[in-house]
Amino acid sequence: MSASSVEYLLWGALPYVVIAVFVGGTIWRYRYDRFGWTTRSSQLYESRLLRVASPVFHFGLLVVIVGHVIGLLIPESWTSATGLSEAAYHVMALSLGIIAGVATLGGIALLIYRRRTTGPVFSATTVNDKTMYLVLTAAIVSGLAVTLLSAYTGITGGHERDYRETVSVWFRSIWILQPDVDAMSAAGLGFKIHALIGLALFALFPFSRLVHAFSAPVWYLFRPYVVYRSRDRVPAEATRPIRRGWG
Ligand code: HEM
Repeated sequence: MSASSVEYLLWGALPYVVIAVFVGGTIWRYRYDRFGWTTRSSQLYESRLLRVASPVFHFGLLVVIVGHVIGLLIPESWTSATGLSEAAYHVMALSLGIIAGVATLGGIALLIYRRRTTGPVFSATTVNDKTMYLVLTAAIVSGLAVTLLSAYTGITGGHERDYRETVSVWFRSIWILQPDVDAMSAAGLGFKIHALIGLALFALFPFSRLVHAFSAPVWYLFRPYVVYRSRDRVPAEATRPIRRGWG
């Protein structure tokens, strides 16, 4: 079945528009808004919920990203060549994907709840933030929905709309500048909606607080806590020799 002209626009042209906006927008933001290149942290207003919600969200998302890299970039023939059967691959991918997806969704739900219910945090939330949260949540919810749906069709024996034969083939074809529109137009509607929301998030990325992902230093995960001390304790503390690190 040949793809319609709308599908050509969506899967043949749109990805390149998004890549141009993503790269151009990031360069523009870096050059003209370096002081605004931040998470705009609200930790000083509220830290109890943030301490739980932020790591659950970020570690969940890290696993989701690794899952996307494997699922979209590694061809089915490669995993089969290692002796891993299609069924075993899907059991592994689905179980890990569902756990990571649920953690990411739980994390973002808590972060949004905190943002809405903590007065100063809500006051510091802009229309830009709200738009970003909406698209991010939609990407996570739709991703989880297609995953659960594909787990269900897997159980019921329907493999004809396997994303590794449609979405992944299209995704890889973008990077060799030969977009395989037919492959993506053969994918299920759920996958198409999820991919479009994903593209929308990438287009918003440079203009939102998500840019902080580019400056997340790896050592940040293992660094000691920043210690805040009240003023009256400073003179006594100041007499101690300064030591770096955990001490
Ligand atoms: C064009 C970009 C994207 C494509 C082509 C894509 C493709 C896919 C596919 C094929 C699945 C199903 C995996 C399965 O059935 O096992 C999936 C799941 C999922 N996607 Fe995406 N995705 C994209 C962007 C995003 C973005 C930006 C997010 C959110 C930040 C996201 C979040 C999720 C989540 C939470 C799942 C559930 C499974 C998991 O935890 O990995 N996706 N995606």
